[in-house]
Amino acid sequence: MSVQPGSGQGHAIDTLFSEERRYAPPPDFARQANAQPDIYSKSFDEFWTDEAQQRVSWFEPFEKLYEWKLPYAKFFLGGKLNICYNCVDRHVEAGAGNKVAYYWEGEPLGERRVVTFEQLQKDVVKLANGLKRLGVKKGTPVGVYMGMVPELAVAMLACARLGAPHNVVFGGFSADSLSGRLNDMECEVLITQDESWRRGKTFPLKAVANEALASAPSVKHCVVFGRTGNPVEMKAGRDVWWDELVTPASDDPASCPCEPLDSEDLLYLLYSSGTTAKPKAIAHTTGGYLVGVATTHHYIFDVKPDSIYWCAADIGWVTGHSYIVYGPLCNQTTGVIYEGTPDYPDRDRWWDIIERYKVDILYTSPTAIRTHMKWGPEHAQKHDLSSLRLLGSVGEPINPEAWIWYREHIGGGKAPVVDTWWQTETGAIMISALPGITTTKPGSATRPFPGVEAAVYNNAGEEVGPGGAGYLVLKKPWPSMLRGFYRDPERYQQTYWSRFPGVYFAGDGARVDEDGYFWLLGRVDDVINVSAHRISTIEIESALVDHPAVAEAAVCGRADATTGQAIVAFVTLKGGAEGSPEMMTTLRDHVAKKIGAIARPANIVFTPELPKTRSGKIMRRLLRDVAEHRPLGDTTTLADAGVVDEIASRGRELLAKGEEE
Ligand code: WT7
Repeated sequence: MSVQPGSGQGHAIDTLFSEERRYAPPPDFARQANAQPDIYSKSFDEFWTDEAQQRVSWFEPFEKLYEWKLPYAKFFLGGKLNICYNCVDRHVEAGAGNKVAYYWEGEPLGERRVVTFEQLQKDVVKLANGLKRLGVKKGTPVGVYMGMVPELAVAMLACARLGAPHNVVFGGFSADSLSGRLNDMECEVLITQDESWRRGKTFPLKAVANEALASAPSVKHCVVFGRTGNPVEMKAGRDVWWDELVTPASDDPASCPCEPLDSEDLLYLLYSSGTTAKPKAIAHTTGGYLVGVATTHHYIFDVKPDSIYWCAADIGWVTGHSYIVYGPLCNQTTGVIYEGTPDYPDRDRWWDIIERYKVDILYTSPTAIRTHMKWGPEHAQKHDLSSLRLLGSVGEPINPEAWIWYREHIGGGKAPVVDTWWQTETGAIMISALPGITTTKPGSATRPFPGVEAAVYNNAGEEVGPGGAGYLVLKKPWPSMLRGFYRDPERYQQTYWSRFPGVYFAGDGARVDEDGYFWLLGRVDDVINVSAHRISTIEIESALVDHPAVAEAAVCGRADATTGQAIVAFVTLKGGAEGSPEMMTTLRDHVAKKIGAIARPANIVFTPELPKTRSGKIMRRLLRDVAEHRPLGDTTTLADAGVVDEIASRGRELLAKGEEE
């Protein structure tokens, strides 16, 4: 493939990669699918009105679908509902109390719990009663800092029951990140736990919370769930054990009815993980959010009443909020929650879980898939994964080779793969295949979900035609969209609504092909400019991962006197192999052959790991610092700060040698 005609100067992004493989939905899957082809023929108004009525129980019906006062939208105006009622109580009322809501698997082997909808309701009601005793009521901001235990979902649902907006902070963040978020929202209560399990070790949640609370004066009460039972410091008057709070509380739902909320009442704030900038306090409200997550969950994951669905993300990210807690529970789905890491005690832990619970739907990230690729398919081969009938991906562009590996080694070459594009801001999936309808192409998120109007614009703000690339925008509001940044309307306006008038600027590059399929190209901040060609990181990375020796790759630009920028690639080889000068030549040539000489990396740095955020996104910003010999920028969101030092030292050597290239 070579650079397409007309590319170069003036174009937002040039595209080089071409992927020819196609996978039509298997006919038996297509026949039984929740989404049938006529789903695309409904109008926006009709689609969202029907879904809102079908998927959600309203205490009072909404009067108007939406109102759009740029840049703020409201949905389901006049409607009254409660999310906890929709996710829990109504299922028990409908006679599904004995259905399993969550199979929970602790990290230490053999620790398992089964939580039915009836049990979930009792737990939620008890906690909500306990929180009420601490003064929590409609509108009280509550922080949550926990590990992956069912009680994390219970905490969120108890808040939703009372109408108290929550602010879940990922249970691996530092005391500073936690206090920053608690202070920003002025949380009055924090719900945490003694410790969590991670890769065979305990993580001291309560100790971190104690440090955070020392500088979070708005927090008057701290509820502590006992998970490991190891001693922790409790502050008298402020701290209370979860058990002591809930033991005397009633579990009768009538003792703590679900608060009727307005569609537009605040459900939660969630701070985006941020690969490029300071975290943003993203606000989601009640009605539109629930309709958005329940609808997308139903159609995209093709969830059935007897499904065993596993979203292997952390509840601390939006993926977990929308697709472990709210969407699946609203749809009365049985889910799996796993507490720990995929390699504890061995690298087959995930596959063991899938085999045990006969999981039929798995939703994970490209990072996780590439990690399993790096470890090799033999771990999955030890287990019977034949229950899987659908695979999902989210979080980053997925390289075609990782997509194929996922389909072949995990999905047995038959399960459809849905690559789902969305953001913390969008609340729910915006671009995705519908598994019974869409012929998929590895690496493409395919088409906008019904009721979503996505487009790609060039620099001038014109919609590009088929084959064009540029900036991904959303042209119409959607029910689960963010309602702004908490108390920062200017930054909200600036971030999404100022690049192109009247449309939502997602900050991602994208290409649309002849079939109208979307190919996500990564964050526009990461685009590399080589001799006036604007090249997206994902295409070069995918060409590298296409080589059988490569497990993972990340590229970035460094300043170059001749070409403006030169491409630097950071590569992890499969099976822990070390790099060599021969491998470097091979890979540089491989990229040139795959997508053109313009994309041939100037330097390749071999590294055992890439720097990633705690949610698994590659931080190319830090790689740029390494490539340009700058001191490293903010590393606080890194999952493992040691990785980047290691890369920096390897990078320094190689880049010093390679600079004459
Ligand atoms: C950013 C949003 C949405 C849940 C988890 C991440 C990237 C996400 C895809 C995908 C290509 C993707 C984008 C997006 N992204 N999914 N399927 N293909 N890129 O939420 O932390 O708010 O990140 O993740 O760059 O803007 P988030």
